[in-house]
Amino acid sequence: MAQRKKFWSESDNVIVPWTWWGYQEAGDNREANRELKEISILADIGDKFDTPKPEKLVKQILSIATNPGDLVLDSFAGSGTTGAVAHKMERRWIMVELGEHCHTHIIPRLQKVIDGEDQGGISKAVNWQGGGGFRYYKVAPSLLEQDRWGRWVVNKDYNPEMLAEAICKLEGFTYAPSDTLFWQHGHSTETDFIYVTTQTLSLEQLQALADEVGQDRTLLVCCAAFRCKADQFPNLTLKKIPKMVLSRCEWGHDDYSLNVQNLPMLEREQLPEQDDLFADAGNGGDE
Ligand SMILES: C[S@@+](CC[C@H](N)C(=O)[O-])C[C@H]1O[C@@H](n2cnc3c(N)ncnc32)[C@H](O)[C@@H]1O
Repeated sequence: MAQRKKFWSESDNVIVPWTWWGYQEAGDNREANRELKEISILADIGDKFDTPKPEKLVKQILSIATNPGDLVLDSFAGSGTTGAVAHKMERRWIMVELGEHCHTHIIPRLQKVIDGEDQGGISKAVNWQGGGGFRYYKVAPSLLEQDRWGRWVVNKDYNPEMLAEAICKLEGFTYAPSDTLFWQHGHSTETDFIYVTTQTLSLEQLQALADEVGQDRTLLVCCAAFRCKADQFPNLTLKKIPKMVLSRCEWGHDDYSLNVQNLPMLEREQLPEQDDLFADAGNGGDE
């Protein structure tokens, strides 16, 4: 295997990461446990986390893989070390956690980071003084479920309003149900609307809908099934709900592009102060 020797003067003042990381630079599990105890994360429940990572280790990884402002995803957040370190390193982050320790550990931990109260871990090394914020969302139940024959159907947990709102979000419409027109659940423009129903729509029902929508407006109709040709009405686009939802799921793709809306997108200069914008941190906005 060929090797290339590079002199410091040619190296842009950066050191290529070593393949072996000792505990001096990356810490160890004992250090990670101590860090969690210092911020009272383990006080009430004993050593809940079998393999906590020291903040130093995550810092090494994030230094190699990311730059300030980048988005760091930890979809199995555990005690929240990755998010805490990303935050202190001025990265943005998304953490996902299904366990109750999301409330008992991760949220209190990140609040301490934001308040500048957490002076353990890498805080001293990066001169962490607090700042920033986060939003907390509770993920809704799956929109679809399989019935006993393995067919996809709308989850029974969804009532008509929740279904209409969820489909609006998936299709890029603003959810704004009309008080007077039963078929207006949302809009994408002033003349383009969406109607969501779990019914099967007959030819007569669709004809009546097309007449009411008229020539100057268009309507996306999301229903269980329809009894006509898909392109029969020029002002209606007809879609079947389980199929249209499944087509939005990205299983089996090479590129799992993450479409997360409503993220805080502040300019860097605005970041240091803890901001009212994040006052909902930890307060459980359901999404
Ligand atoms: C080993 S811990 C994660 C450790 C953490 N990423 C770290 O670097 O220290 C795994 C976590 O994933 C959570 N988890 C498991 N399945 C999950 C799922 N489907 N969605 C979200 N969290 C999940 C568990 O509750 C547990 O807290």
